[in-house]
Amino acid sequence: MFKYVKHTNYPIEIKKKDLKMAKYLITQFGGANGELGAAMRYFSQKFSMPDDYGKALLNDIATEELGHSEMIASMVHQLTKNATVKELEEAGLGSMFADHGKGIYPTDASGVPFTVSYFAVTGDPLADLMEDMAAEQKARATYENLINLTDDEDVIRILLFLRQREIVHYNRFKDLFLYYKKKGY
Ligand SMILES: [Fe+2]
Repeated sequence: MFKYVKHTNYPIEIKKKDLKMAKYLITQFGGANGELGAAMRYFSQKFSMPDDYGKALLNDIATEELGHSEMIASMVHQLTKNATVKELEEAGLGSMFADHGKGIYPTDASGVPFTVSYFAVTGDPLADLMEDMAAEQKARATYENLINLTDDEDVIRILLFLRQREIVHYNRFKDLFLYYKKKGY
């Protein structure tokens, strides 16, 4: 069960329109290393963790990642808010507008829609946690790529926060992996 809190996990206050950045940033909503995939990965995998601690850890991180999906979607919304159709077209977002108007649709930076094949569930805690550690490192690297694609401080501040959370998640998954390995799972 979930309770929705009516504000984002970190304040999203972007003042400058930047359609190019919106086109890149959407990948952290619906791309292979994005927040939606992370949330769905951990929500799905938690059931086969061997104890309540592991289940709770995956559930906690999945919930946080869903909150991060909301942050990325809000960022894309703010970056594109007052754009004209012509501006969207010029920024390479004409196809997105044709299919989705100004709605926020989960794709990667090339416009490829989100797919469940971005994550796996093996039912084996060590195999799944190994994937989770890699996923967190890939998310961190993607945030670093995105930071290098902008000079807007309002955007960078949020991306640095999200990058830091991926490092925290990586370490939590690593600790759980080592604990289960020691226990012989
Ligand atoms: Fe994460």
